[in-house]
Amino acid sequence: MIRRWYPWLMVLVAMVLLAACGGRTETPASPLATQSPLTAPSPLPTPAADGATLLQERCTACHTLDRVESARKTAEEWERTVVRMIGRGAKLTEAERAVLVEYLAEHYR
Ligand code: HEC
Repeated sequence: MIRRWYPWLMVLVAMVLLAACGGRTETPASPLATQSPLTAPSPLPTPAADGATLLQERCTACHTLDRVESARKTAEEWERTVVRMIGRGAKLTEAERAVLVEYLAEHYR
């Protein structure tokens, strides 16, 4: 007769053990949970290689882009304007200047 209760007793013991361990296994689980919202390093900013980005980032320090957007210039004129802006303090490398002048000449001519 007592053998019939044995499986139930085991279940009861198992439940008690699980309940007891449950409290303990949850604690190490919480630091994992705080890590889970992917704290992967954000992708490195791509080098400002395109004209639109350069224009947005380097040509808005002193005036809005209205000056650029209302202007219509040839590539040579843009080259001269950009060189003048660099003389005033715009930060552009040689390569960036070339990319930007090409972009300006294509979009604002
Ligand atoms: C350090 C400040 C500064 C930065 C940065 C700057 N500008 Fe200017 N910009 C000026 C000033 C001051 C004027 C008005 C005087 C002049 O025209 O030289 C001006 C005027 C202009 C004009 C109108 C005059 C013209 O020649 O048509 C354009 C177009 C222009 N800027 C484009 C640009 C572009 C493109 C860039 C990015 C490479 C840029 N600026 C960055 C200061 C700046």
